[in-house]
Amino acid sequence: MKLVSWLKNSGISARELASRVETTEATISRLKNGHARPSLELAQRIADATGGAVTANDFLDLGPQAASHPSNGLNGARILLIISGGIAAYKSLDLIRRLREAGCGVRVILTRAAQEFVTPLSVGALAGAAPYTDLFDAKTEFDVGHIRLARDSDLIIVAPATASLMAKMASGLADDLATAVLLATDTRILLAPAMNPRMWANPATRRNVARLEGDGVFFIGPGEGEMAEAGEAGIGRMAEAPEILGVLENLVGQAGAKPLEGRHVIVTSGPTREPIDPVRYIANRSSGKQGHAIAAAAARAGADVTLVSGPVRIADPLGVKTVHVETAADMLAAVEGALPADIAIFAAAVADWRMREQSREKMKKTATDNEMSLDLVQNPDILKLVSRGHLRPPLVIGFAAETRQVVANAAKKRQAKGCDWIVANDVSEGTGIMGGDNNRVSLVTKSRTEDWPEMTKDKVAEKLIARAAEHLTAREAAAE
Ligand SMILES: Cc1cc2nc3c(=O)[nH]c(=O)nc-3n(C[C@H](O)[C@H](O)[C@H](O)COP(=O)(O)O)c2cc1C
Repeated sequence: MKLVSWLKNSGISARELASRVETTEATISRLKNGHARPSLELAQRIADATGGAVTANDFLDLGPQAASHPSNGLNGARILLIISGGIAAYKSLDLIRRLREAGCGVRVILTRAAQEFVTPLSVGALAGAAPYTDLFDAKTEFDVGHIRLARDSDLIIVAPATASLMAKMASGLADDLATAVLLATDTRILLAPAMNPRMWANPATRRNVARLEGDGVFFIGPGEGEMAEAGEAGIGRMAEAPEILGVLENLVGQAGAKPLEGRHVIVTSGPTREPIDPVRYIANRSSGKQGHAIAAAAARAGADVTLVSGPVRIADPLGVKTVHVETAADMLAAVEGALPADIAIFAAAVADWRMREQSREKMKKTATDNEMSLDLVQNPDILKLVSRGHLRPPLVIGFAAETRQVVANAAKKRQAKGCDWIVANDVSEGTGIMGGDNNRVSLVTKSRTEDWPEMTKDKVAEKLIARAAEHLTAREAAAE
């Protein structure tokens, strides 16, 4: 349903909706009048707030002129188009033509099944370069290689996306060129599924779509209507090329946008090490993956980033000023030294305790001592000190690693520390979160709690940074 109709039917004002989705009334008015499209994050919140009545797809309508006025927001974009083996593959020929008209560089991968529907020759003629077809083709590997195909694009679109290809993606299979590239990429992926309505409605496909959405893959369509097979109708029709172009423009625009340009962001990451004696220390299992991913995402969003990192085994992110520290006291000093900032995100797992006095000599085991106790004192609480300090950044975000009553404890922590948001995660044994590549978090703000589906730590970082950027913009707009 269109937002304008929902507002009318529900009797909820633009202002009220704006406050529920944490944006400005002006933004809701622009969206309502079709003068702007929401970011995918905001679209998701609107979908939540409207009980699913207004979804991201309701903002995609490009109006009647779209087909006759090729977009130019895509000029210069590098698009990798994967065509898989569905009957709608013929529609991708038109998509290639329009992408090129819009000024995109287009590379194409054809699956083996896709070649039953469209030929490499016709695809190559439209794209201006021969398509890639084989994972084990020595020439392709030598020429670009599947890893470069995965990396050197601004966006990957799979159109049509078959049920089979989505199932492979959802389970991380990489047994041909298309799926190997999709697994090896960290570029945004847009899927335009097309299939028989019963295949689309099948519980297995529903599971795969949900999982892919959770992984941060974007979807357009399928729409409802007549299928290419005679006599078939329902949900399963591939989105039309102009619609796909509109969404691509949105996504490429977002990828190129620098919403944190000119902002300073401080991020802490990794564990701290509290020495016991010259050879031993107290530490924890934090890998730094989440904090480092957040620093990298903030840098990609244009921020000037200071990352204060405890001892980790991962590389410093590109484009970020990294300060290496060891103890909680060092971390506090580095954070204080980096202030002021617009946003501070405390993702480090700071040790709560340190030795009252560190032994200068290695503590020896003696023949008579069966037991040993350490005299510990509390470390400074960096999150609380910064949240309540005189240089408090406008947005302070803490992390809560909990093993029980995750959200309730996180909400308490948010109040006790005085920060704006808490990102809560369950680090109980068996979740694989500490040290793993995935995370499942809840974002606890003053007014609401959002449970995000499990996704990679990179995606969590991207989503958190997008939310933080939106929050700052909305806050400033409200203050004007
Ligand atoms: C005539 C015909 C039409 C097909 N159309 C579709 C389709 O629209 N969507 C789909 O998911 N699979 C379709 N399939 C099945 C796929 O081609 C099949 O699952 C194939 O293994 C997909 O391979 P790929 O995903 O690697 O391209 C069709 C098969 C045939 C024979």
